[in-house]
Amino acid sequence: MKKISLTGLQPTGIITLGNYIGAIKQMVGFQNDYDSYIFIADMHAITINQDPITLRKNIRSLVALYIACGIDPEKNTIYIQSDNPYVANISWLLECNTYYGELSRMTQFKEKSKKNANFTSGLLTYPVLMAADILSMHADIVPVGIDQKQHVELARDIAIRFNKKYKEIFTIPEPIINSDITKITDLQNPTKKMSKSSENQKGVISLLEDLDVIRKKIMSATTDSEMNIKYDPENKPGISNLINIYSSLSFKSREEVEQEFKNSNYGEFKKCVADIVIETVKNIQEKYNEILNSDYLNEILDKGSKKNIEISKKVYETMKDCIGIGRSNKTLD
Ligand code: AMP
Ligand code: TRP
Repeated sequence: MKKISLTGLQPTGIITLGNYIGAIKQMVGFQNDYDSYIFIADMHAITINQDPITLRKNIRSLVALYIACGIDPEKNTIYIQSDNPYVANISWLLECNTYYGELSRMTQFKEKSKKNANFTSGLLTYPVLMAADILSMHADIVPVGIDQKQHVELARDIAIRFNKKYKEIFTIPEPIINSDITKITDLQNPTKKMSKSSENQKGVISLLEDLDVIRKKIMSATTDSEMNIKYDPENKPGISNLINIYSSLSFKSREEVEQEFKNSNYGEFKKCVADIVIETVKNIQEKYNEILNSDYLNEILDKGSKKNIEISKKVYETMKDCIGIGRSNKTLD
């Protein structure tokens, strides 16, 4: 039997070329090797203030975009977190087996609570809801960005504790951090990561952006005063970033890219980078527009939710029996 891979995506902000090259392409690779679950973590999104209209729009948009990027609905179970009423209940049962000290020590909580004096209690219990997502689906591996590693480790601790206290019911999940993936940097400020939260969006490419704007952004990317297309992230961060982008989207090695452009100037190279980015993004956008308002999307989400609810309902009932709540007289040996 295949191992289970599970990951959640928050429906906030734009999806960048960095996300595509750094994370989505890896997920597309995983779908053949794992029984793969991908869901929209909309309940995590509301731990900070969200505009309901934007949030609603972003949820469907994110599902359509991931499918357009190559996440195959035949190979992945795709669902929306809040469609499942059991996950919050499971989260509560787990909360009663998690210490306040553990949650208050989480780096993300410390950082986000510092930014706003009126933070919600959901911001504190956020990692337990994440543990509920993971443990209720018996995930073996959880691919996440480095910032979420600590939360997956907490999910492990909670699972081990519950299994010891009551019964071995949870699979112990493992975080998968792809640390050797290529980090795509900001086109204007190439020593910084390309990020959706960057103040200046001139250096950031969104997958849903106008194609002419994308071309302009690439053509005005920061480079250096030399004239050679060489991979040297320390001394030539701008050119190295463009080499990474081209290499990833063309499936060529950096050396092959250097060879291909050894007689080109920066303007010619940038044009080729822009062409390949635009070709990739154009294909994604065409598929996205086809899917976004289709019945097909609803069918995928219905099917995904059904499976998610079935599995987590069983876990919820077993947890209740373990803990001794509810009307059941069942005792577990
Ligand atoms: P974030 O958008 O920061 O929530 O990250 C979501 C996923 O995309 C994580 O796996 C990140 O490692 C990856 N990611 C985000 N930005 C980049 C980037 N500029 N280059 C490569 N990977 C990225
Ligand atoms: N907290 C994650 C993030 O912000 C999203 C998430 C929610 C998640 N539940 C999850 C990721 C379970 C992996 C597994 O990126």
